[in-house]
Amino acid sequence: MSHSSSAFDVIVIGAGAAGLMCAAVAAGRGKRVVVLDHNDQPGRKILISGGGKCNFTNRTVTPAQYLSANPHYATSALKRFGPADFLDLMKRHRIAWHEREHGQLFCDNSAADIVAMLLSECGAGGVEVVLEAKLGAVTGEGPFQVATSRGGYCAPALVIATGGLSVPKIGATGFAHTLAGRYGLSVVPPRPGLVPLTFTGADLDLMRDLAGIAVPAELRFGKTRFREALLFTHRGLSGPAVLQISSYWLTGQPIMVNLLPDLDANARLLERKAARPNAQVETVVGELLPARLARALTERAGLLGRPIGQSTNAALAGLARLLSEWPLVPAGSEGYRTAEVTLGGVDTAGLSSKTMAAKSHPGLHFIGEAVDVAGWLGGYNFQWAWSSGWVAGMSV
Ligand code: FDA
Repeated sequence: MSHSSSAFDVIVIGAGAAGLMCAAVAAGRGKRVVVLDHNDQPGRKILISGGGKCNFTNRTVTPAQYLSANPHYATSALKRFGPADFLDLMKRHRIAWHEREHGQLFCDNSAADIVAMLLSECGAGGVEVVLEAKLGAVTGEGPFQVATSRGGYCAPALVIATGGLSVPKIGATGFAHTLAGRYGLSVVPPRPGLVPLTFTGADLDLMRDLAGIAVPAELRFGKTRFREALLFTHRGLSGPAVLQISSYWLTGQPIMVNLLPDLDANARLLERKAARPNAQVETVVGELLPARLARALTERAGLLGRPIGQSTNAALAGLARLLSEWPLVPAGSEGYRTAEVTLGGVDTAGLSSKTMAAKSHPGLHFIGEAVDVAGWLGGYNFQWAWSSGWVAGMSV
């Protein structure tokens, strides 16, 4: 194979967010770069992201918005190439964008603008992008040999940018994790993150009845809280608050839901009991929440059809707990089919945060979602892809 291999300075595997950024930056430094991908199109995840508008970064990006066994690993890369640097690139390519709530930045026109920008940067540097390349063996260590259905490639630097396991339908694989293992690196066990949660039994019955209702809520797991929209679905719970907390949730444990985060629910019920004793409990709760939700929770508290004046304070306290500290134990999640990110991945303990290279194999780099760094919802995962891709592109 090595006799017929095409020689490059850098082989990047994965033509996604991180891989294209890395390739463009390395080529900009004069490196001969090839990008290999098994899909027939580069940047497929970018294209479907953010409802087709790509939430490409966030106004405020700090390591606090990332989950990793080493919370400091991302710091250096995020500092060296942050949101402002990516916005500079967008400006040079005249891509218009706008800000939405929580500092989330989206394209005005289309996510396709971002893919076009990255491909144009790659094109300017003469990057060769080889699509529909089925990967075979990866051997050696400087030079690395990569066998593919589209020929063999060899280079002293190899960058693995094949992402995580989320959404296999558009080409996600565990390639990075397997390869890391083969080169003796450890992998933090992957699991789906930013994913809808599923329920069973009485909880699911209730959620099914409420499917389609969205309310602002505060969700808490341990010390982590998110205040965003909560959506009831036919299979459980979704919406931004649920996706965010799903990355922190541990199997078998409850998530606490506060449907009235700005209110002392118990005090409110007692105040209404004194002021309007003849009002039905569900009517009182209906002043605060959508009627169907108010009715369902009042029923669960055993107070449906009861005038609030005839409800005991203990029963009202029980209802208040449902409204403000409702413990819900998910049965599971929707899994990699819909997860926006993969938690875990190549263990950062074996990588350099300055170069993204394996400490044990200095030519071998891991970037993007393949690594054990996963961001919150809100543009943080793309920012990690840009930052880690840029750092590797500067170091190869
Ligand atoms: P990415 O997945 O982008 O690229 C990996 C590439 O490697 C792909 O091109 C793939 O085909 C290729 N590959 C994989 N296995 C291979 C193999 N065995 N052989 C050859 N090639 C292989 N984030 C965000 O910040 N804002 C957002 O709006 C969204 N929205 C969003 C929506 C949806 C539906 C999903 C699923 C995810 C998001 N995300 C997001 C997350 C974001 O898309 C993700 O974190 C980045 O794309 C990760 O970039 P990478 O380059 O690491 O992987």
